Amino acid sequence: MNKYRIALNFEDGVTRFVDCGANEKVLDAAFRNRINLPMDCSDGVCGTCKCRAEAGRYDLGDDYIEDALTQDEADEGLVLTCQMIPKSDCVISVPVPSTACKTGTAHFAAAVGEVTAFADAAYELVLDVPAEAPVFLPGQYVNIDVPGSGQHRSYSFSSAPGNKRMTFMVKQVPGGLMSSWLGAATAGQPLQMTGPLGSFYLRAVTRPLLFLAGGTGLAPFLSMLEVLAEQGTQQPVHLIYGVTRDQDLVMVDRLAAYARRIPGFTYGTCVADPQTTHPQQGYVTQHMPAQALHGGNVDVYLCGPPPMVDAVQKYFKAEAITPASFHYEKFTPNQAVAT
Ligand SMILES: Cc1cc2nc3c(=O)[nH]c(=O)nc-3n(C[C@H](O)[C@H](O)[C@H](O)COP(=O)(O)OP(=O)(O)OC[C@H]3O[C@@H](n4cnc5c(N)ncnc54)[C@H](O)[C@@H]3O)c2cc1C
Ligand code: FES
Repeated sequence: MNKYRIALNFEDGVTRFVDCGANEKVLDAAFRNRINLPMDCSDGVCGTCKCRAEAGRYDLGDDYIEDALTQDEADEGLVLTCQMIPKSDCVISVPVPSTACKTGTAHFAAAVGEVTAFADAAYELVLDVPAEAPVFLPGQYVNIDVPGSGQHRSYSFSSAPGNKRMTFMVKQVPGGLMSSWLGAATAGQPLQMTGPLGSFYLRAVTRPLLFLAGGTGLAPFLSMLEVLAEQGTQQPVHLIYGVTRDQDLVMVDRLAAYARRIPGFTYGTCVADPQTTHPQQGYVTQHMPAQALHGGNVDVYLCGPPPMVDAVQKYFKAEAITPASFHYEKFTPNQAVAT
């Protein structure tokens, strides 16, 4: 029996994955997994179970009434989970918090595999998962407990979903809690984490893509690029990677490798420091080729530290650039977050 993997993205950023049988309704599959999605009639009459399908192919069912789901709503991607039967893996946005569905984030354990320092700029953290490889959407993040501190920090996966070796790209923040812990971490040390989380993930690729990365904000794009390399894409993808100092420009070799693996993938890099020896000085917005915007027919993904994300958004507004879709993630420091 075919099974499809359904990602349920809740309003509070929590994502849960459920397997759905070939002729199973999403609501039934969720209930089987003890996730009480909103429902009332379960007959396609009340509309209480209405959600948005963000990706995937599905059959809407033909036992529902127009009052529960209008044709316009169906055309927009709305679905009734009590009727919907997936025909591929799907991503569904559920318009309530996970707690309202009696679920929450998943907890899992991993062990430090390797920590590689890139000068004083960043670490690459490799984690091994002893049990089942965690499932997530490319671009999502996880909260990692900083051992012995009672606090956690959020990190975007830089590897593709489904691997028992997960990688992360972590900025070295002088005196930072996680940064300091990683500086002394050794292979085999256990780590606890919760997730996956976040609504910053690669949607179905139906248009050209423009990726804008600031510093370690490159991490989620490496995950997305790996998926694009594995699955292939017909659409052009351009990435601009901007950093503050020359030594912050790390893992550019990975981008070069993706340029060889993904036809239609191009990238540029830039360094903000006025003293840089890099050929492209300035911010990502100053090195954005007009053709990468495809006259607005483009899906833009933006990730980096809050000032960078704010600056890019301001630039788009000032220049009246309105891409077909715009998704962003801010790497807000979460210093005081308790586990
Ligand atoms: C959704 C999400 C995803 C994230 N993903 C990543 C990721 O993939 N890679 C990554 O490197 N970070 C990521 N972050 C940021 C990360 O969670 C931590 O905030 C960061 O790594 C600093 O943690 P720390 O424990 O080393 O420093 P902290 O102990 O948190 O901070 C020490 C001091 O440094 C300041 N500080 C914190 N961060 C910075 C910074 N970037 N620049 C300058 N000063 C800073 C703090 O305000 C504090 O004063 C993400 C944040 C969010 C919200
Ligand atoms: S639960 Fe009533 S329409 Fe789905």
